[in-house]
Amino acid sequence: MDIQTIILAAGQGKRMHSHLPKILHTLAGQPLLQHVLNTSAQVSSLPPIVVYGHQGKDVLNAFADKKIVWVEQQEQLGTGHAVLQALSKIPDQSRVLILYGDVPLIAVATLQKLIESTSGNSLGMLTAHLDSPTGYGRIKRDAEHHIEKIIEEKDASKEERAIKEINPGIYLVSAQHLKKWLPLLKNNNAQHEFYLTDIIDLAVHEKIMIHAVQPERVEEIFGVNDRLQLATLERFYQRQQAEAWLKKGVAISDPARFDVRGELQIGKEVSIDVNVIFEGKVVIGDNCKIGPNVILRDVALDHDVEVKAFTLIEEATIGTNCVIGPFARIRPETVLKEKVHIGNFVEVKKSVIGNNSKVNHLTYVGDSEIGQRVNVGAGTITCNYDGAHKHKTTIGDDVFIGSNTELVAPLTVHDGATIGAGSTITRDAPAHKLTLARVPQVTIDSWQRPKK
Ligand code: UD1
Ligand code: CA
Repeated sequence: MDIQTIILAAGQGKRMHSHLPKILHTLAGQPLLQHVLNTSAQVSSLPPIVVYGHQGKDVLNAFADKKIVWVEQQEQLGTGHAVLQALSKIPDQSRVLILYGDVPLIAVATLQKLIESTSGNSLGMLTAHLDSPTGYGRIKRDAEHHIEKIIEEKDASKEERAIKEINPGIYLVSAQHLKKWLPLLKNNNAQHEFYLTDIIDLAVHEKIMIHAVQPERVEEIFGVNDRLQLATLERFYQRQQAEAWLKKGVAISDPARFDVRGELQIGKEVSIDVNVIFEGKVVIGDNCKIGPNVILRDVALDHDVEVKAFTLIEEATIGTNCVIGPFARIRPETVLKEKVHIGNFVEVKKSVIGNNSKVNHLTYVGDSEIGQRVNVGAGTITCNYDGAHKHKTTIGDDVFIGSNTELVAPLTVHDGATIGAGSTITRDAPAHKLTLARVPQVTIDSWQRPKK
């Protein structure tokens, strides 16, 4: 039988103290709901049903390109009421898995265990043992240790509150049962809500087996209600990423200072110093060395690349044996071929730099194409912008650009040319010649320094 997931996400999230709907807050760079959508896609081939409520427009817009069956819950009358809104959208011959938009880290493995170990007719659910169970529904078991009931904290007696086995709220139940039971729910409880948890009573009443599974890590079932819980789960997530890479042989200096906010691929013999942030899609080849305080966003590093401290690289392709930084900024649409050196306080934007070329100090290279074995001296600026348009600078192979040069684009510096230091170059420079544009040096013999 197919698995149909229903993701409850109608809650407001007041404790976030934010205009942003709770499920749009990000964990590891992705909205909370996106994590659950990713998980859903791994256990179910059907598009998930998402029950939304507050700030519906923002939520729908944020996921406009996703295959989702949206169901609005106009008033939040309880978890049972939320699932009830989705009832007509559930295929009859399916098993329904209930998930939550604000419980982002539930593991695929845990859900698979639940799905595989729950037989078609029985009801599966997760439970967990918590030292401080406050706030959760408690699991009441009978003398034979069978689950009998879930008691909400607000309805619980003092003895029941002492129970440490709690209800994470994740259930697997056949569509047929759900369609029979949900319309029977009543709200005669402390909160006057329609409790989804009451389906347990109904199942027990019909002698349906209730099967419980525990998550491997308790953090999987933690929800996000405030920013502290969000930050706690973020660290848990990042720790897991770091540990997984460490086990695969990546030399991460400190797993507590490692942040992946996207998709990461890492080769062999790679070392990563502290406070490195990976965003978007990042690929790191073999033998790369990433220094401390580096940000890599949508970057592919070929093998044997060294990125030194305090460097930011975005949307760039970096060839083998390049050395970048410290304090370098590589901006989108940059391609560095092999053995390129980019040094401190150098900014490169939308440029291609050829093999063995060096741009080592205090330089801006924008909208440029630089050949092989070029040396760009300190303080060079490609003046690519005239206030209205961007223009291209082309530099051939084996060019030497003297320090403190302005190259006013559009401009071509041909192969083998040398540009004298301190020049402002406004016309093309011919191949294999020295070109310079600077005021001739004079010495005034008669000059005297003023005296007081
Ligand atoms: C529910 C369970 C409780 C469990 C706890 C786990 C019920 C009655 N109780 O508690 O046993 O320990 O989750 O966190 O189910 N939601 C809606 N619409 C609503 C109400 C809730 O979409 O009308 C969504 C919320 O956005 C949230 C989730 O359901 O994602 C849980 O709601 P919340 O109010 O936090 O949980 P409780 O009902 O208190
Ligand atoms: Ca200058």
